[in-house]
Amino acid sequence: MLVKGRPYRTIWLAEDGVSVEIIDQTRLPHDFEIVRLRAADDAARAIADMQVRGAPLVGAGAAYGMALAMNTDPGDANLERAHRMLIATRPTAINLRWAVDDMRGRLAPLPQGERFAAAYRRAAEICDQDVEICRALGRHGIGLIESCIARTGRVVNILTHCNAGWLATVDYGTALAPVYLAHDRGIPVHVWVDETRPRNQGASLTAWELLNHGVPHTVVTDNAGGYLMQSGQVDLCITGTDRTTSRGDACNKIGTYLKALAAHDCGIPFYVAVPSPSIDWTVWDGLAEIPIEQRDVREVSHVRGRTDDGATAEVCVLPSGSPVKNYGFDVTPARLVTAMITERGVCAASAEGLLSLFPEQRALVRRLPNEVALERK
Ligand code: MRU
Repeated sequence: MLVKGRPYRTIWLAEDGVSVEIIDQTRLPHDFEIVRLRAADDAARAIADMQVRGAPLVGAGAAYGMALAMNTDPGDANLERAHRMLIATRPTAINLRWAVDDMRGRLAPLPQGERFAAAYRRAAEICDQDVEICRALGRHGIGLIESCIARTGRVVNILTHCNAGWLATVDYGTALAPVYLAHDRGIPVHVWVDETRPRNQGASLTAWELLNHGVPHTVVTDNAGGYLMQSGQVDLCITGTDRTTSRGDACNKIGTYLKALAAHDCGIPFYVAVPSPSIDWTVWDGLAEIPIEQRDVREVSHVRGRTDDGATAEVCVLPSGSPVKNYGFDVTPARLVTAMITERGVCAASAEGLLSLFPEQRALVRRLPNEVALERK
């Protein structure tokens, strides 16, 4: 994506061929700063502190974390240590586990002398693969926007939650990939951007991205979506996902479920953009089986921003003493998802739908619908 006319990915190898550079997402939208990661510990910190965030980018960052570990010490103990440390940074997005398991699985059988080069090669492949997947999500998702404009003949109003744009991936984004493609092809789109408390990924990141790219958009409070849908101001919703189960339950940023409920009530299509590394084929029931991250309560009690005189300030919005909980994600059950946009096409949010596009994963799925039906008889 372009930032002030210069193309950027969200993560790349630095000029020294060993360190890794990232865009510090905690500084956006006010400052565009690049941070250098020199060791696996830096990568783990960047993920935990959300300098890099968004399920696909967390996976890419963790893959490079494993590579940085192999630069420091390619021994077995360090490989295991890096795997343990990185996997502990964030529990919900499956891309993280997918990436570090993949790296360890490929590196462990190699002689130590070969691990450094192999690790950097594979981390770069994971990044390139993410870019290709996101491009394909755009190509498949644009049809849903085109069929909407064919029906209504006017600008397509799309509601999105959190940031599932290029900042959440290596490039292009997941939920926003079809939106960017539609805009670039001259299809008139307008995006309703949920602010996405507590960390405001919508207000700070999605709005920044869309503004940069010239896509018409409006930021709204998280609570506005229901009214917008009831009053006919939303044509479709598209969100990303941090982990989708084999039956199509979609875990995503807290508040996504409420938007899906409102969309269902208003008869508005609710689509989830799902890159295949975000599918956990071994998990069936999202609510029962996906660990929901709980983050520092300070993210809820305090709001950070820029004052009119240009200083950064953090202010408390609660009475001191009120207890706080900070759940990071929720699960939208498959029944509320109109369809899933994957890199292989659009499918029903069900095991049959997903397996029709990814038949090679069938062996990993623990309970297929016909098995459940048999159990019930
Ligand atoms: O906590 P975050 O900012 O990492 O959460 C990100 C999201 O919930 C995104 O919607 C999700 O990762 C899918 S984005 C490609």
